[in-house]
Amino acid sequence: MTSAEIRQQFLDFFASKKHQIVPSAPIVVKNDPTLLFTNAGMNQFKDYFLGNSVPASPRIADTQKCLRVSGKHNDLEEVGVDTYHHTMFEMLGNWSFGDYFKAEAIAWSWELLTEIYKLPKDRLYVSVFEGDPSEGIPASTLALQEWKKLVAEDHIIYGNKKDNFWEMGDTGPCGPCSEIHVDCRSDEERAKIPGSQLVNKDHPQVIEIWNNVFIQYNRLKDGSLVELPAKHVDTGMGFERLVRVIQGKQSNYDTDVFTGTFEAIEKLTGNKYDRSDSKEAIAFRVIADHIRAIGFTIADGQLPSNTGAGYVIRRILRRAVRYYYSYLNYKQPLLFQLMPVLAKQFETVFPELQQQLDFVNKVVKEEEDAFLKTLDKGLKRMDDMINNSTDIIDGKAAFELFDTFGFPIDLTRLIASENNRTIDEAGFESEMQQQKSRSRAAATLDTEDWVIVSEEKGEGFVGYNLLSTQSTITKYRKISAKGKTQFQLVFNTTPFYAESGGQVGDSGWLDFGSEKISVTDTKKENDLIVHFVNQLPTNTAKPFTAIVDAERRLFTCYNHTATHLLHAALRKVLGTHVAQKGSLVNEESLRFDFSHFARLTEEEITEVEHIVNEKIRQNIPVVITEMPKEEALKLGAMALFGEKYGNTVRVVVVDPNYSVELCGGTHVMHTGMIGLLKITAESAVAAGVRRIEALTGSNAFHFLNKQYTELKTVAGLLKTQDPIKAVEKLMLEKQETEKRLESLETKQLQSIRDILLQKTKPILIGGEEGQFIGEIVEVNSADQLKKLCFDLKIGLGNHYFVVLCANIAGKAAVCIMLSDSMVNEKGLEAPKLIKEYATPLIKGGGGGQKTLATAGGQDASNLSELILQISRLV
Ligand code: SER
Repeated sequence: MTSAEIRQQFLDFFASKKHQIVPSAPIVVKNDPTLLFTNAGMNQFKDYFLGNSVPASPRIADTQKCLRVSGKHNDLEEVGVDTYHHTMFEMLGNWSFGDYFKAEAIAWSWELLTEIYKLPKDRLYVSVFEGDPSEGIPASTLALQEWKKLVAEDHIIYGNKKDNFWEMGDTGPCGPCSEIHVDCRSDEERAKIPGSQLVNKDHPQVIEIWNNVFIQYNRLKDGSLVELPAKHVDTGMGFERLVRVIQGKQSNYDTDVFTGTFEAIEKLTGNKYDRSDSKEAIAFRVIADHIRAIGFTIADGQLPSNTGAGYVIRRILRRAVRYYYSYLNYKQPLLFQLMPVLAKQFETVFPELQQQLDFVNKVVKEEEDAFLKTLDKGLKRMDDMINNSTDIIDGKAAFELFDTFGFPIDLTRLIASENNRTIDEAGFESEMQQQKSRSRAAATLDTEDWVIVSEEKGEGFVGYNLLSTQSTITKYRKISAKGKTQFQLVFNTTPFYAESGGQVGDSGWLDFGSEKISVTDTKKENDLIVHFVNQLPTNTAKPFTAIVDAERRLFTCYNHTATHLLHAALRKVLGTHVAQKGSLVNEESLRFDFSHFARLTEEEITEVEHIVNEKIRQNIPVVITEMPKEEALKLGAMALFGEKYGNTVRVVVVDPNYSVELCGGTHVMHTGMIGLLKITAESAVAAGVRRIEALTGSNAFHFLNKQYTELKTVAGLLKTQDPIKAVEKLMLEKQETEKRLESLETKQLQSIRDILLQKTKPILIGGEEGQFIGEIVEVNSADQLKKLCFDLKIGLGNHYFVVLCANIAGKAAVCIMLSDSMVNEKGLEAPKLIKEYATPLIKGGGGGQKTLATAGGQDASNLSELILQISRLV
């Protein structure tokens, strides 16, 4: 069976058990402060488990793109070194939300593995949770009883909390689990040691393939467990491992999931993959693994960057670069060349990569180029560090590698461990903290557990139609960040729009009658709408009127609808490769980031503005409807990559032939309300991503009017109707005047020089005659004074001492010039003379060469005294 067939059979099997098949959620998590990336199939269903929202179907199955490189589940160090861990992997899963439980889940997993996939039963082992008295969690007797119906007893293993109690993070839904392991060793080996003894022992051939979690609890922040109102099933099967087992391979990398990429690496680099534990073989596996994480994450909208999720991607990418650079001896960008193979392979499962291939490639290549530039120097520096240390690499040095050469700490750690060194982690951390506190105070958010006020069900979000409504608080919690305390409130019914799709969250008031509380912001957390307030109402159980700041919302609507008009116009003018990469819509302006490869020309910008304003003037009604996603896509609706959509989507249409977008935001009713759009800036944000900033309505008008008024003032000053012509003329005249001035000044300097040369006083040096000049002259700048000094040189002999001063608009300028003989034979130095004589008298300072130094100062009243003192010295 090919991997594609294996995946399909899984989905078909659970469809036959009445599961709804849903698409993978994006790999990058939004609206969840506890996760950066999807690390398990169940993440997108967290709210269903917690009872915050209700799924469309109580049974769901899918294949989910997951990434386990940060947080509680982090496999990065193993990846490539072994043959069965990955950064990005597919997790096949089936779920029950308060529907079937252990009996069905267990029976179906067995049926699929042994009857559909036909895995030999005697190679399968299952584990069951033995209970944990310290937490008061009982052993899973029900699971045990179900397994006993299917599996021989010596194939059942009892596991502790570490192996058989699954939690997605420090807090959240969790429960006991039952894992299925498979023993892929030869019959001979199996006869020697029974597989049951190797389960969960990191044996490369005895591996876990499926985890059936029975979600029953919620882990709170204080560490305690509370029972959930309903019991759920959450299963996850590692797709790449399953394929390996079914295809009878020793390594995940030998399956058709990876072989295409391996062939491409061999062809491009000229190396051969030999399946060993050599550095070259590890490099093959690392690269083939990492490009999946890199490609799919960028396709889901996360660009590499220096913080958060973006930095995780940058780290993975740099790790891959270092492997091909050092071990495949390939010194130019490689990853981007492999991306087409990957995109093609996943075209039907995760089409987002193929659809954005040009964009992803551009981003990846630029990242590779940038890192390759510093990698070589960094590796040499690393070599020095290794040679200069016996066991521990200094934290400061590791930080230098990070800061100057872009080496993520895990890369430095990896290279260090390859050379039997460790890193002074504490030292590194303290350097890192120092830099952080230098740049900004660390923003750690401390969140307390929710306090439940009422279970009252309301209507949820009603803000598309209403700007105020009666509400009650259902729960609240305290949060603190940067020493500031705030509260988050959740209502049964709310008119407040929560920040999403680039549109800012609403602000407004809660009117309790006697008391008014300001809402500063509204955000989404998973599917909860969370209102931010600075203080709690005196009585949290009292009903109130929730009122949205209507003016702010309206201005925001102008900008949101205008963003749709802009998006469509950009696609018309630049091409359909334009896809939204980010947007910010608030009451003041709009900002739109999109994929495009070149700076927009003035003509393109004008054309885009022209189209948008035409659409505004046509006063087109904005029609918003809900419909099945399939139908919307048939209408040509633009969906965003990396956004999670349900089966029913909200479609915003401004003329079906012009703009159709899936969007949850708020909009104007007719485009005419926007009034006007003016693009104010166009710039680059990242490789292949451009940014447009624009204003609408009265903001656009004020902007344009300000420019108009300024121009009128300029015209008034120039006394003309045509300021452009007048300025051009002025500039020309200025050029000519400057030229004339320059030639006059040259002449003036020449005549001063001639006079000075006539005024020289004789001095004796080593029996030879020399000349001294000490004068205050009239020049316009310090530069001229210096030039004058230089020019004097030609008229002087071998021995001279010149000191020139000038009063330039009340400030002192001094220049001292000495012949070589003055320096070599008399031991004089111009900068020292400046310091000794000029500095105290002119209230300033300067310096220069031994033979020529200059100074400037605030006080020009002592210049004669200065000349006098130097004359005495001479
Ligand atoms: N959530 C469990 C896991 O990730 C089962 O899906 O292993």
